Amino acid sequence: MSQVTESAVRSALSRVEDPEIGKPITELGMVKSVAIDGSDVQVEVYLTIAACPMKTTIVSNTEAAVKDIEGVGTVQVTTDVMSDEQRRELRVSLRGNTADPVIPFAQPGSTTRVYAVASGKGGVGKSSMTVNLATALAAKGLSVGILDADIYGHSVPGMLGSDARPHQVDDMIMPPQAHGVKMISIAHFVEGNAPVVWRGPMLHRAIQQFLSDVFWGDLDILLLDLPPGTGDIAITIAQLLPNAELLIVTTPQAAAADVAERAGSISLQTNQKVAGVIENMSAMVMPDGSTMEVFGSGGGEKIAQRLSMLTGEDVPVLGSVPLDPSLRVGGDVGNPIAISEPYSPTTAAINAIADALAKRKVSIVGKTLGLGVK
Ligand SMILES: Nc1ncnc2c1ncn2[C@@H]1O[C@H](COP(=O)(O)OP(=O)(O)OP(=O)(O)O)[C@@H](O)[C@H]1O
Ligand SMILES: [Mg+2]
Repeated sequence: MSQVTESAVRSALSRVEDPEIGKPITELGMVKSVAIDGSDVQVEVYLTIAACPMKTTIVSNTEAAVKDIEGVGTVQVTTDVMSDEQRRELRVSLRGNTADPVIPFAQPGSTTRVYAVASGKGGVGKSSMTVNLATALAAKGLSVGILDADIYGHSVPGMLGSDARPHQVDDMIMPPQAHGVKMISIAHFVEGNAPVVWRGPMLHRAIQQFLSDVFWGDLDILLLDLPPGTGDIAITIAQLLPNAELLIVTTPQAAAADVAERAGSISLQTNQKVAGVIENMSAMVMPDGSTMEVFGSGGGEKIAQRLSMLTGEDVPVLGSVPLDPSLRVGGDVGNPIAISEPYSPTTAAINAIADALAKRKVSIVGKTLGLGVK
């Protein structure tokens, strides 16, 4: 019987990642001990907290990695829980030893593309677009997060079908994940369907905490689902994330496009870029293959032209997403159509927009804050 070496076990463990942090457990101080008896291996792993929602995944991934070693016999994986001191060390190793929380996405050199999904009117499909684009991007292998910035009208966790709560490691908030997307929402911090009744400064503080205290890891893309209109939250986002680009959602209706223009033109005051326009609820495909323009047509093009004129930059229509009952059902049951119906024309439209977003490159170097912080 062959002898398994400790270095072989450690090297196997270096391929096991903490699913929330996205780094190998060997780098996170999570391997408590390795014991080898001939070909039998025992590994003890530290969990960040006792109620770690990822416990089963971590244990089974660790077991699988060790079992992969040639000549290994039985493998036993047990767990222990980090002390407060270990959690503090972990936090320092992940975020540095700063007392003041920083917003990683606003730092020079951040490579995360940040898109704020906005509209003038309510109910045009901002949250639906956010959730479907996020899951489509995650399915392409990108690391994606959603910040539900609609404090009063939060809907992201429901649309992603998640009732998981975040947990805390030292002073970091670990965001729940669903369909490969990390998320944070005020829904995670209120009981049931309780309403949030806050004034502007509280809203600002909540968004700030979501950006700085949540451990997002290395995101390729962060999507912010904004409430409708040009209120406090839009200004907060512009102040905290001057590099965030706006994605304007409108229906094809002329009146909706007029209102959407106001949401887009806020970018002139905040010095933010408008990445493009998404026309949602465009012509519905009927069972006989004909189409029906329930909300008219041309709204997306109209607002893209107007915003191009206003901003002096090319604001494209990134895509038109049809009115589709399956998309509505996907949101209601928490299974986004971008995942559940990969071959539908609606998903194709969403994927095309996701491709456009994934390709764009932004540099925040030299961007200045266009708003005075009051
Ligand atoms: N393309 C579509 N086809 C069918 N239904 C849709 C489509 N887009 C959105 N909906 C439905 O329209 C309703 C409003 O969508 P959603 O909540 O995404 O809009 P919103 O702009 O985020 O609203 P709010 O302004 O209230 O935050 C939801 O019931 C959603 O399922
Ligand atoms: Mg919404």
